[in-house]
Order: sequence, then C-alpha cells, then structure tokens
Amino acid sequence: MVRQIKTAVFPVAGLGTRFLPATKAMPKEMLTVVDRPVIQLAVDEAREAGIEHFVFVTGRNKGVIEDHFDKQYELESTLRKRGKSAELDMLEQDLPAAGQTSFTRQQEPLGLGHAVWCARNLVGNEPFALLLPDMVMHARPGCLKQMMDVYEARGGGNVLAVEEVPWDQVSRYGVVGAKNWNGNAFEIDGMVEKPKKVEDAPSNLIISGRYILQPEIFSEIEKQEAGAGGEIQITDAMMRLMKQQPFHGIKYNGTTYDCGDKIGFLAANVAFALERQDLGDGFRAALKRILASQGGL
Ligand code: G1P
Repeated sequence: MVRQIKTAVFPVAGLGTRFLPATKAMPKEMLTVVDRPVIQLAVDEAREAGIEHFVFVTGRNKGVIEDHFDKQYELESTLRKRGKSAELDMLEQDLPAAGQTSFTRQQEPLGLGHAVWCARNLVGNEPFALLLPDMVMHARPGCLKQMMDVYEARGGGNVLAVEEVPWDQVSRYGVVGAKNWNGNAFEIDGMVEKPKKVEDAPSNLIISGRYILQPEIFSEIEKQEAGAGGEIQITDAMMRLMKQQPFHGIKYNGTTYDCGDKIGFLAANVAFALERQDLGDGFRAALKRILASQGGL
C-alpha cells in the first residue's frame, strides 16, 4: 500500500510585481479567472484529488487569503435575507472544513524551495502535494487527480506533472529528461532549472507546477545553497533526492495557463469563460464583436 497523500502545500508569498497596480494591495493569488480566485482553483483541484489539509505559505499583505477560506457571517446573513440560496450553497461548498487549513509565513523571499521548506512542520513526515497556484490547470479529471493515479499505479515515489512547450520557452521553467514511457507516464532521468541555452534542456517537457513529494525533500532543501536566479530552488533539492528515490513524470491530459504571465492569465479567462454554461454563448458573441471591430484575428 502506498502512503496516501492528504496534505497539499500552496506557496503564496510572491509579490506579484508583474500585475501591478492590481497587486499593490491585493495578493496576486486573489486575481480571478472569471469569478474564482486562482488560489480557489488550486484548492478545488486539491480537494478533487482527496486532499484534506491545505497548507498556505503566505507573506506580509496576504491576510485576505486567510479570510477567503473562512466564513463571512455578515455576507452570509445578507444573502440569506435576500433569498440568494445558490450563492450561499456555493460559498458553503467552497469552504474547507474547520481545521483543514494551516497558514505559515515565508519571512524573506528566498525562493520556492525555501517557501516549501517553511511548511515542513505543518506537513510532518508524510508525502505531500505541492501546487503552484499561478499555474492554472484546465483538465478533467484535474491534474493532481491524474498524478495521484500515477502515484498509486507506480507504487509511490515522487511525481511531477509536465507539459510540452515550444522550445523557445524552456528557459522560463524547470525542464525534465524522460525515459521508459508507458502511456503518458515515464521515469524522470534528469532536471534542469531554467536552462540558459536550449542545448542545456534535456527536453521541452516543463515542470508545470504540480508535484507529489516525499518528506525527505525537506532535508535536501536544508542542505542547499542558492541556485538559478540566486534563489533556493526546489528543483535542485529534487535533483539530489532523485539519487535516492524514484521520480515519475506524467504528461497530463489538459492545458496549463501560466497566470503569473499576463497573456496566460488573459487566455485562462477566455478559455474558462467560453466553457461556462451561463456565460459561454454570450461571451463568444461579445468576443466575435470585439474581433470584428478590430479587423478580425
Ligand atoms: C517554478 C519552478 C519551475 C517550474 C515553474 C512552474 O519556477 O522553479 O521548475 O517550471 O515554477 O511555474 P518560478 O515560476 O517560480 O520561477
């Protein structure tokens, strides 16, 4: 029996400078794809995959995230008075149960590896999922659920979701080397964080922001010095852990929208809005009008 994954870590300490001024007083994780904050989408994905403990690594000015995952009595009583039962039901369904959320702070921006390490005492000695909320996955079943199936089928270990990107984009991401494919799953035999030259990238399969990791990752992070970009990188720690434990990859079925980037964020909004039953037709018509008035595509 593999050890079940019940805890997920969400690093949400980043400043979001690429979205200023929107992110001056509001965390970037509260930016919405249609009407759901990107952090809510990541939590939805984790819940679907069976996660019961949601650990947020926050920073200063991120208090709104904690409020978002709490009850809002005043709002709820107003909705009740107005008979808005659909909205009330939605808020109730979205709310993690009491005691399922934990918050800790990354006091200094020392990198993703360091942010994950800040969660070590809340995670304990258990395997866990790591979801980078900027990367919004459009997939059915959700990306983490697909990864859980690979985790079970392959008898545990570490699992990374990957996505194929054009070669000129590999330098923005962590990149993996792949061997022994079986369907859409494979063994990872190398990793490079943000390769400077295309020739340094072992493939064009990028680490797309979803991980299942064994707890030994924490002691690997502890050992390390700053890597690419002067930051403590999770990829460096994984490269060392790879010498002791298997790392599986899954080219998951779905699309990633990098919502840390404006084009990715706008594209996610278009894709999610078009498939909404309540909005799709109206939004498609509006898009057509806009495109026609601007001379088409
Ligand atoms: C991080 C990881 C990188 C991964 C990326 C996905 O980079 O270090 O391996 O491909 O997330 O978004 P960051 O986006 O924090 O620079």
